[in-house]
Amino acid sequence: MTQDELKDAVAAAAIDEIRPRLEGDTILGIGTGSTANRFIDRLAALRHDFRGAVASSEASAERLRGFGIEIFELNEAGTVPFYIDGADEVNAHFHMIKGGGAALTREKVVAACAERFICIADASKRVERLGHFPLPVEVIPMARSYVARELVKLGADPVYRQGVVTDNGNQIIDCFEFMIDDPVAMEARLNAIVGVVTNGLFAARGADVLLLGTEQGVERLLP
Ligand code: A5P
Repeated sequence: MTQDELKDAVAAAAIDEIRPRLEGDTILGIGTGSTANRFIDRLAALRHDFRGAVASSEASAERLRGFGIEIFELNEAGTVPFYIDGADEVNAHFHMIKGGGAALTREKVVAACAERFICIADASKRVERLGHFPLPVEVIPMARSYVARELVKLGADPVYRQGVVTDNGNQIIDCFEFMIDDPVAMEARLNAIVGVVTNGLFAARGADVLLLGTEQGVERLLP
């Protein structure tokens, strides 16, 4: 199977996961990226079975609206029963690196308000140790150089993602050569750097369910 077919398979599995739990007043949390897009495309057929969605990016909001799915502000929605999103890497503890699409801050905020985070990923995303994928860090623009110097002190090779402005008006630094032994501790350490808005480690709040697309089928994994 191709990677796209595996993404389709996990998107379908996520629909099966949530469908029995949808109610007329349900507001779903929806992520960002190519796997999340496939989920959105399948969700369209269920649009009359739930109330609407909170999106983790303007791109996902636009896609959802295109299918007639109502978008709610998170402040209005409160908590959501599910947050469904992809990942750039996921380890055995369901800690993740996210933010390849620069939506990490809103993704982390919506995930924080979710009762269950359903991670949908093809098998290429499963790793023993996080860090082969460059870790994104969202920074306030004026702090970019300072944060980069602090990241060097931590052992990273920081690279400014040129030309990218996040939905929050900020910039992204990608940390190359930055293998992570203790994701929970590193997430907190990075958050403590002044000028950092969010880092792409989702460890303090990881996924609750992992739907992993493999050649043998979709595995439903629990931590
Ligand atoms: C978006 O900022 C990311 O966190 C995505 O969720 C992540 O990059 C996975 O994207 P794909 O599903 O496109 O691989």
